[in-house]
Amino acid sequence: MAEGKDKKGNVDPNRRAVIIGGAAAVAGIAAGIVIGGYGFPRTTKVVQPQVTVEKEISTVTKTVTTTTVKQIGYVKQKVANISQLSSPGQYVTTNYMGYLVYIIKTGVPSENGVGPDNDIVGFSAYCAHMGYILEFDPATNCLLCPEHFSQYDVTRGGMQVVGHPNQYLTQLILEYDSSTGDIYALGFNRLVYGTYNTALQGMSSSSGGGSS
Ligand code: FES
Repeated sequence: MAEGKDKKGNVDPNRRAVIIGGAAAVAGIAAGIVIGGYGFPRTTKVVQPQVTVEKEISTVTKTVTTTTVKQIGYVKQKVANISQLSSPGQYVTTNYMGYLVYIIKTGVPSENGVGPDNDIVGFSAYCAHMGYILEFDPATNCLLCPEHFSQYDVTRGGMQVVGHPNQYLTQLILEYDSSTGDIYALGFNRLVYGTYNTALQGMSSSSGGGSS
């Protein structure tokens, strides 16, 4: 006979209540254990920190500065023609880049001379001592200073012959075009008196001056 049933097979209500109550009690204890956390291995949940990496996007604007340097130098300029210098002692005074200059035919091969006989030379007209305007003397092939009487030999590159300055007279670099007879100035070989940068301080000009 099954437990909790009478001889007729009916369930004893009291006994069933006891069984149900016991089951409930067991369930309650189990639940209490679970709720209380006793009697079972404790499980520790490790919560990994959430790391958020934010990419920082930056825009770099690069400013490029271009500097243009303007080269300032001498200019090539026609200063005379061979037809103006047909015989020794003839000369032309003219303007090269704002400076008064002499173009002289010496009649003898001369230092830095151009032309068919290498006897045409050019010089600054300003005395190397204090800048006074020089005068040409065909008899000696010298440029003379009327102020303090210095003399420069134009056949020898403007070498000082007598006088105060202890330097050569500034000479023009010339170029001769045999097809036209034109004579061009390309620049000076040293500073013109009174300038710290002859090319920079000069002005490009083909006018001015005159001839003698
Ligand atoms: S300025 Fe020419 S010698 Fe003095």
